[in-house]
Amino acid sequence: MPGNGLILAIESSCDETAAAVVQRGSRTLSSAVASQIATHARYGGVVPELASREHLRAVVPVVRAALAQANIALADLDAIAVTSGPGLAGALLVGITYAKALAYAQNIPLIAVNHLEGHIHAVLLNERESLQRQSSLEKGTGAPGLASETWDGSTSGDQPALALVVSGGHTHLYLARPAHGSWTYSLIGRTVDDAAGEAYDKVAKLLGLGYPGGPWIDNLALHGNPHAVPFAFSQIKTKLHLGGKPPRTKAARTAPIANLDPHFLFSFSGIKTAVLRYVELHNLRPEAEVRRETLFTGPDAPPSPTVDDALATCDLQTLDLIASFQHAVVGDLMKKTFAAQESLGVLRILVTGGVSANRELRSRFTAEAARRNLHVAFPTLALSTDNAAMIAAAAWPRLQAGQFAPSGLSADPSLALGK
Ligand code: KG4
Ligand code: ZN
Repeated sequence: MPGNGLILAIESSCDETAAAVVQRGSRTLSSAVASQIATHARYGGVVPELASREHLRAVVPVVRAALAQANIALADLDAIAVTSGPGLAGALLVGITYAKALAYAQNIPLIAVNHLEGHIHAVLLNERESLQRQSSLEKGTGAPGLASETWDGSTSGDQPALALVVSGGHTHLYLARPAHGSWTYSLIGRTVDDAAGEAYDKVAKLLGLGYPGGPWIDNLALHGNPHAVPFAFSQIKTKLHLGGKPPRTKAARTAPIANLDPHFLFSFSGIKTAVLRYVELHNLRPEAEVRRETLFTGPDAPPSPTVDDALATCDLQTLDLIASFQHAVVGDLMKKTFAAQESLGVLRILVTGGVSANRELRSRFTAEAARRNLHVAFPTLALSTDNAAMIAAAAWPRLQAGQFAPSGLSADPSLALGK
């Protein structure tokens, strides 16, 4: 069994360069994230070449910051973990190359982690940390010390769970089952086109709001009527997608849809088009252009526009549109997640990924789970979006099981999770 169970993880799959040190998959010693939002914001989305360049700049300082925050040296580590996919090839390669070099220099194992599994472990890490805190308090021992740590990372909460990973690149439903200290995953449903976060980002761009769009829509939706525009999701016709046609977007590439129940499939490209039609029909485009110019791209745009700045540029019709869009997206995520939960008979739901930071999503999932007498959990806001603590947490069972990456590990932009 490895020494102190200290894992340094590196995450660089998209537009955040992150490093973290986590002990035994259950105690975060540090989590550093360098965001590239400022670089990509003016393009309204992630530019892959710029992402790779920014990762190259940030990876060494971010790893140093994570070690310094954790107050440990490279020599204290038991393993290095790194995201190997899915994500942007060039971005992933920066993290992988640096992680390999560190592992080789320290002569410690390298562990490859699937980014989606990482998102699921963000919730598990939070749950373990709070259980651990609780048990320390009950024993009256306060915070457990590094060397005296006896926690093995398992909790009584390690029961099968339905996990909804909902982010800018994914909207996937998995059945996650504990298996001998590790986890196995079965794909239950997923988007056949855009991810939910992608729809948030595209709708925000269309309305002249900032990047990423999720937080803007989350905040502005509070001021509109969610029932003003009746957006509807039609039942997905799987035959169309099973006809051998190649998937249309990056989100659809990570897993096959054959054999999945169409009731658990998502599609978010339609609502994006419906918003576009509404904007055109109600002539909201000129207002969106003025908003973009005033808040983000114009010479007099404030350095960091606030929600109040944005609110001042939105008429009621736009706010109603934003609130209705969000209400419909969250409603569809709920409908399919709870349908899958019912069909599988699991009593525990985990919702994770960037979109899980959304307030309406959290409150509606929480209320529905309570109504059904189910347990629902979300990561803390810091662990909802991309970070490396979740990668280190997912790597812990692998370290225990001796599942290490081959020396020829490379990036896999379409890496799938589970069967
Ligand atoms: O997990 P993440 O950081 O990166 C990916 O793996 O994609 O998720 C980023 C996505 C973006 O699409 C962003 O707009 C969305 O998460 N997001 C939100 C919120 N915060 C971030 N969507 C809705 N509400 C939010 N509060
Ligand atoms: Zn992510």
